[in-house]
Amino acid sequence: MPVPLRSSTPLVADAPLTMVPLLPTLVVGSYKGGVWKTSLAVAIAERLAWADLKVLLVTSDTQEDARSRLGLKASDPQIARIERGKGTLTVLGARDSVAIDLLYRSGPGRLGQGSFDVAVVDTPPILEGGHLPGVLLVTPIDGTDAARNLISMLRGVPSNSEIILAKVHRMDPVQWERDATAIEQAAGRAIQYLSSPLPRSAPVEAAHNNGRSVWALPRRGCTWEFLSAVDTLACSLWTKAFPKKPWPAMPPLKATAYVDGWDGKDAP
Ligand SMILES: Nc1ncnc2c1ncn2[C@@H]1O[C@H](COP(=O)(O)OP(=O)(O)OP(=O)(O)O)[C@@H](O)[C@H]1O
Ligand SMILES: [Mg+2]
Repeated sequence: MPVPLRSSTPLVADAPLTMVPLLPTLVVGSYKGGVWKTSLAVAIAERLAWADLKVLLVTSDTQEDARSRLGLKASDPQIARIERGKGTLTVLGARDSVAIDLLYRSGPGRLGQGSFDVAVVDTPPILEGGHLPGVLLVTPIDGTDAARNLISMLRGVPSNSEIILAKVHRMDPVQWERDATAIEQAAGRAIQYLSSPLPRSAPVEAAHNNGRSVWALPRRGCTWEFLSAVDTLACSLWTKAFPKKPWPAMPPLKATAYVDGWDGKDAP
């Protein structure tokens, strides 16, 4: 079941538009480490590929965790392409001005990998993680956030980017709604938030740490709640990119299933 997004009235008038990326882009960014940024970025990118899109996944983190989370090895090519149903996921590392060239100035056509429909960017824990203009910014927070850092980061988000807060780890949804409203007021701008906090799921954790897709996991309990939230986030980018097209259903489990020892050994 999709997790509804809530929004509120903007508190400040919109500033003039600044740069926009060449592709509809979703960025997962937080000043904080270990708040599931990479896990969310990879799961969102895969979900968009399962919606038949050509997805560019940019990892601007020197660790390039997104690659291992997708089951790629160090020996795999620097620009790796993975198929998900009729869609594709192309992963590459690009940081600093190289990432800006790729996303805003020259575009991914230069990569010689054909064209892309959307981009998803995984960022390291930095205050400037939210500074990319014209994007959908997903900011995970875990409830132990240093309010000053969080607010500084959110205040630095360009006015033409949209912010979606995602609370990771369970908490009372009513308390979370209060917290999200307080964060919005402190940041002085409209913010959307996932109405239900994302729960911990042992199968999701194991899948990520072993380079397996969360979309191949049995869809029940906390795993189902996590996937539903990821589905909502991916759908937000889809709606931005294709406002008139309906969001394709989640991939059937039999299409995403992974058989240990058999799958993942194909020749490149
Ligand atoms: N839904 C979940 N339930 C339980 N554990 C999870 C979940 N999602 C991610 N994790 C685990 O949390 C840990 C941190 O996740 P991740 O690496 O995505 O965070 P990060 O914010 O990208 O970290 P960094 O700041 O180092 O880049 C990982 O071990 C991951 O498997
Ligand atoms: Mg990470």
